[in-house]
Amino acid sequence: MTRRTRVHHRLGQLLSMLALSAAGLACGSEPGRSPATLPMPMAGVPAVLPPGPGPGVSPVTGGGAGGATAPAGTAGLAPATGGTMGTVTAGSGPVVPPPPSGPVSYHKDIRPIMQARCYGCHVAGGAGGFELDAWEKVQPLAAAVVHAVTTRKMPPWLADSANCMKTRYDQRLTDAQLALFTAWKDAGFTEGNAADFVAIVEEKPREVGAPTIVMKAARPVSLRAGTEWYECVVMQSVPTDTWVTAIQVVPDKDEYVHHAIVNVGNGACSALGILADNVYSFRPGSQRLVFEEGDAMLIPAGKTIAVQHHYNTRFAPASTTDQSELHLWTLPAGQKPMRSISRMPNHDMLINIPVGAVNQREGESASVSAAAGSEIIGISPHMHYLGQTFKETLNRRDGSEVCLVDIPDWDQDWQLDYFYSPADYIKVASGDVVDQTCMFSNRAEDQGKDPEGKPFSPIYTTYGEDTRQEMCLGYIWFRTPL
Ligand code: HEC
Repeated sequence: MTRRTRVHHRLGQLLSMLALSAAGLACGSEPGRSPATLPMPMAGVPAVLPPGPGPGVSPVTGGGAGGATAPAGTAGLAPATGGTMGTVTAGSGPVVPPPPSGPVSYHKDIRPIMQARCYGCHVAGGAGGFELDAWEKVQPLAAAVVHAVTTRKMPPWLADSANCMKTRYDQRLTDAQLALFTAWKDAGFTEGNAADFVAIVEEKPREVGAPTIVMKAARPVSLRAGTEWYECVVMQSVPTDTWVTAIQVVPDKDEYVHHAIVNVGNGACSALGILADNVYSFRPGSQRLVFEEGDAMLIPAGKTIAVQHHYNTRFAPASTTDQSELHLWTLPAGQKPMRSISRMPNHDMLINIPVGAVNQREGESASVSAAAGSEIIGISPHMHYLGQTFKETLNRRDGSEVCLVDIPDWDQDWQLDYFYSPADYIKVASGDVVDQTCMFSNRAEDQGKDPEGKPFSPIYTTYGEDTRQEMCLGYIWFRTPL
């Protein structure tokens, strides 16, 4: 199937989904996306950073923070005891725009939001699979658009900042914006006047120019049609210590790459932290990750970069290939940044979820060991299909608490990174504790699907990287002055 027929296929699914909703069946089916029994391990392994002298390494005891150790003089995590969850204090709520005047219409009220929040994926060649960037394209799908938006399925942004840290480039729509979509539906999806359109102006990542290193996969991967699987693709090693200021995975056939995880190690992909440290993940719609001026992440000399691809070729033509590139923006050789970026796992490895469980609470507490001036700059949560909610809280030794990330409705398909604005970075000190709580349910309706789209039947689920096992893993991103 060509890309065009694939897109039409998706549209066909969408329209039949609409017909189903009209007939009173539950909406929210997921065209074109389902999990599989996978030959390669699932994403998300504990990191093992090179041990160094100096602070940052705490002894790890049973089932703790994933055996993570930190590079010298940075920040790290160790298991903690006695950490408790508590009330939320930090963060600011979403900024609610003033209510627009005049009757609600596509051009005046809906298009500005869609341009800011949907065009990133729903344009020609985009990850969304079909286009929503003009009235003629939106009109036939208007009901599906309103449904996807008001159920918060779209745009994908799981972190809720209402009572938690505000996330940078927050894509989540405000309650006021949701109300506009509902009002638009109630008004009969009116088009309105194109002259009423006023673009929303938003902060964008800083410009970084052309990448300094472009790595290409050692060989093209043959894409078999109609399935999904993991493939570990070796890129290359770095001969000298390399400080990365920005990073981007550029898939050759992005419509077939469900995710790609950059591993730094000996050329292997994730293997429970022994072989590789995963430092960055690409998902559909992922932008380049750009650190602040003066910040960089170290790839030590001699390490080899491998990228674990999760391919989904359900709609691919019979034979095609993919040869992804990894783009790195780096500091000139010998130059050090002012601050180093590292990402440490807080990892619960003692998960046991019986069949039928509903909102079973699992979690992990880890104590931070941090060099002076260390800050938390963001969180990357990770669970699989049975995950329902995810929350990470910082409990400081002085008794204060900060809600780091709050995900009220987990979606396995959107494993996103949530960073803060630099002005909001959170100071941490050794002895502070990060408490992580994951809720899991294991009923029929919580399961992933096999390659044919048939839901798995519930099984007793334990910890593991396979998609049919579970994880309660939060990567905590630190920034530390050098
Ligand atoms: C980060 C990429 C991304 C963004 C941003 C995004 N979408 Fe999507 N959207 C997708 C993908 C991928 C799918 C296909 C999901 C699937 O196959 O299950 C999708 C599916 C949909 C669907 C199909 C129905 C459904 O529930 O699966 C609708 C409708 C939709 N998007 C509307 C929107 C609207 C409206 C916005 C903006 C408010 C938006 N999307 C923003 C990626 C995105």
